Amino acid sequence: MKQKLVEVKNLKKHFKVGKKQLKAVDDVTFDIYQGETLGLVGESGCGKSTVGRTILNLYSATSGEVHYDGVDLQNGISKKDRKKYQSKIQMIFQDPYSSLDPRMTVMDIIKEGIKIHRPMMSDAEQNQVVYELLELVGLNKTHAKRFSHEFSGGQRQRIGIARALAVNPEFIIADEPIAALDVSIQAQVVNLLKELQKERGLTYLFIAHDLSMVKYISDRVAVMYLGSMVELAESEELYEEPLHPYTKALMSAVPIPDPDIELKRERIILKGDIPSPIDPPSGCRFRTRCPLAQDICAQKIPEWREARKHHYVACHFA
Ligand SMILES: Nc1ncnc2c1ncn2[C@@H]1O[C@H](COP(=O)(O)OP(=O)(O)O)[C@@H](O)[C@H]1O
Ligand SMILES: [Mg+2]
Repeated sequence: MKQKLVEVKNLKKHFKVGKKQLKAVDDVTFDIYQGETLGLVGESGCGKSTVGRTILNLYSATSGEVHYDGVDLQNGISKKDRKKYQSKIQMIFQDPYSSLDPRMTVMDIIKEGIKIHRPMMSDAEQNQVVYELLELVGLNKTHAKRFSHEFSGGQRQRIGIARALAVNPEFIIADEPIAALDVSIQAQVVNLLKELQKERGLTYLFIAHDLSMVKYISDRVAVMYLGSMVELAESEELYEEPLHPYTKALMSAVPIPDPDIELKRERIILKGDIPSPIDPPSGCRFRTRCPLAQDICAQKIPEWREARKHHYVACHFA
């Protein structure tokens, strides 16, 4: 039996925008198992980063719970425990250009976390850890003296990964870590993440909008639409037998490498635009664009249910 490392229950994160509430994340429930990669996909603005940032406690939840290793991270956690969990959970950001301070050397960037979380180490020992981390992510010792602006996008993302690893995390939230990189570099960074996972037994939440890369790296994939989760299943199953009409539409946009099948691929084009999370549709969030929508979809929020074993979906008709 695999063990649950992260449990997210009925999580809501609403932002105040003027007098209104923007429902960035609205009642999301899922688990992440020890050692797995859970992919999280959905169009820009659907709430993926907000889920990640709320798990990390960068945002406090409007309601709901986030349990890490059985500990409730949102409610009543002590300062000391918070520090402990802040090193266990790390984030890798989308933009390796803005997430690294250009005035700091690579040494200083990576060492920052080591200083806070391993203060007992001598300066020389800390330097040694930085050198080892640089080797680990495919850079080398000589890079330590240089400034982050001297590096390419792919190298900067490697520096960002080394910085995240510096505090010995167990769980890494990678928020679109390859979206800003050249296509030729993307696979290298994804492969590095996979190798590190194997070596260090890491657990990942891998946020992306590129579906083909998500399939390649993830054990299971979750799909979000307008602040809600619509489907979650093992990668193979989700790609081969999607149940939710939104997932089907997303999948239909992914090119298939086999030219014969690719020729027959039918694209599902959704009507209309994504509604505003300030004023989302009643009932099912997706109903205004859904080819299957009926009256019930406007009246009742579809239940998040296990339609097949380990395959969750929120749709009245799936
Ligand atoms: N700090 C914030 N204040 C107000 N609105 C925000 C904030 N962060 C995100 N949002 C809004 O929440 C929604 C979800 O954003 P986000 O989680 O960044 O989506 P994604 O990562 O899927 O692109 C968007 O409508 C976005 O504009
Ligand atoms: Mg985002």
